[in-house]
Amino acid sequence: MNIVILTGAGVSAESGLGTFRDVDGLWTKYRIEDVATPEAFARDPDFVQDFYNLRRRNCAEATPNAAHFALARLEAELEGEVLIVTQNVDDLHERAGSKRLIHMHGELLKSLCASCEDRLPLKGEMPTSPCQKCGGGPLRPDVVWFGEMPYRMEEIWNALRMADLFVSIGTSGNVYPAAAFAQDAGRAGADTLELNLEPSDGASDFADARYGKATDIVPVWVEEVLSAS
Ligand code: APR
Ligand code: ZN
Repeated sequence: MNIVILTGAGVSAESGLGTFRDVDGLWTKYRIEDVATPEAFARDPDFVQDFYNLRRRNCAEATPNAAHFALARLEAELEGEVLIVTQNVDDLHERAGSKRLIHMHGELLKSLCASCEDRLPLKGEMPTSPCQKCGGGPLRPDVVWFGEMPYRMEEIWNALRMADLFVSIGTSGNVYPAAAFAQDAGRAGADTLELNLEPSDGASDFADARYGKATDIVPVWVEEVLSAS
């Protein structure tokens, strides 16, 4: 059984990391055009770096929750392939033990040189020194901004074509190309399941759905899949 799982900010909400579009979400406190576009970075790099330095600090203080651990258990115990495609830039899936993971929107805990594309692990604040590799820079968070291409899309579309089941967890279905994955997988013959706090904007793309908090409904669903396999 091949399962492809898309996760969004809702899977990290109960770990204390904010979502984007909920009532108290990040996009109610910051404007996307001020912190999450290449133009914003060119216009006011310090403001953008501060935004991601704050999110990196929050990420270091957060811990994986029962939903992250359940997904790592599914990968470890299922007869078959489990691939997590996450829109999240935190490292909570890794810290819960997930191995097969694609960060399609990049990773908060990596720096990227805007000149030579050198990537380095980054735990704390973004260094203000130039890139060690090319001496150029500037160094930016290795996060995919609006208007930029998400990472490893060919791999993702191939996995969706091969999937027996596509599950979307904790995403509002607002941002493409991830918002079309349920249709892509369904067209290729996969079953589709949405696990979310409430029906997402893409709810009608799913054959099946369960609603509730991720730490409640994801472990229950994983237990069912493992005991049925
Ligand atoms: N359990 C399950 N789902 C939850 C929970 C929870 N505890 N809390 C919130 N949710 C759901 C919300 O109902 C919402 O549908 O998670 C979803 C969060 O949606 P968004 O805030 O839009 O986050 P996401 O879908 O991940 O955003 C996608 O947009 O801003 C860009 O690049 C950014 O990766 C992000 C992308
Ligand atoms: Zn460089």
